[in-house]
Amino acid sequence: MDKAQQDALKKAAGIEAAKLIENGMIAGLGTGSTVRFLVDELGRRVKEEGLQFTGVTTSRRTQEQAEGYGIKIVDIDDVDHIDITIDGADEVDKNFNGIKGGGAALLWEKIVATNSNKIVWIVDESKVVDTIGKFPLPVEVIPFGAGHVIKKFEAKGYKPTLRLDADGKPVRTDENNYVVDLHLERIDHPQELAEDLITTVGVVEHGLFLNMVDKVIVGDPDGPRVLLNPNK
Ligand code: 5RP
Repeated sequence: MDKAQQDALKKAAGIEAAKLIENGMIAGLGTGSTVRFLVDELGRRVKEEGLQFTGVTTSRRTQEQAEGYGIKIVDIDDVDHIDITIDGADEVDKNFNGIKGGGAALLWEKIVATNSNKIVWIVDESKVVDTIGKFPLPVEVIPFGAGHVIKKFEAKGYKPTLRLDADGKPVRTDENNYVVDLHLERIDHPQELAEDLITTVGVVEHGLFLNMVDKVIVGDPDGPRVLLNPNK
């Protein structure tokens, strides 16, 4: 699949998901190229259909895009609940375990997701996999002592790399932290790995989102299809 085809599938999933937002809702808005299509469609609905809703965003990038469309964005602590959050993902398996954080927004994404009544992911078909882990697993790490955290990951065989920007400087998250990507190739025991990562001092959050999502909208050449998590 080339990029244009992949973008068409991402766009179709984003447009389909935008139908889930209703007047008066408080909606979590994720981050990434698929979510950009979602926000474009929500912007269209605000303008052409008079849709009114309040958004809580998972990154400053999404906030900027949404506010450009006149969508009202509030701080997460200014709402007592979030009706639904729609976000992208880097991989998802048949047990509804996924990897997120390709866009370095995993921490805010997980905070918004855990405070949402319903979580929906929008992905193109290439993101649906048998076993997660081919996509490098992002881990958000405090800059102080990050080198030692990386050494610990190396010793465990996690094959870590510090994520760098185009200028060769460490990528900074919206919380000014670093991202370390683990090149694991496959993750057979995601719960154990999640436990190990979150109990490593210096780690703020990891990109394993295990059995959190309620619904996945998959952009497919035959049209968007929906996967419903039977465990939710
Ligand atoms: C950002 C994310 C994104 O949702 C994920 O990387 C998918 O991105 P895209 O829609 O661009 O493929 O987790 O931190």
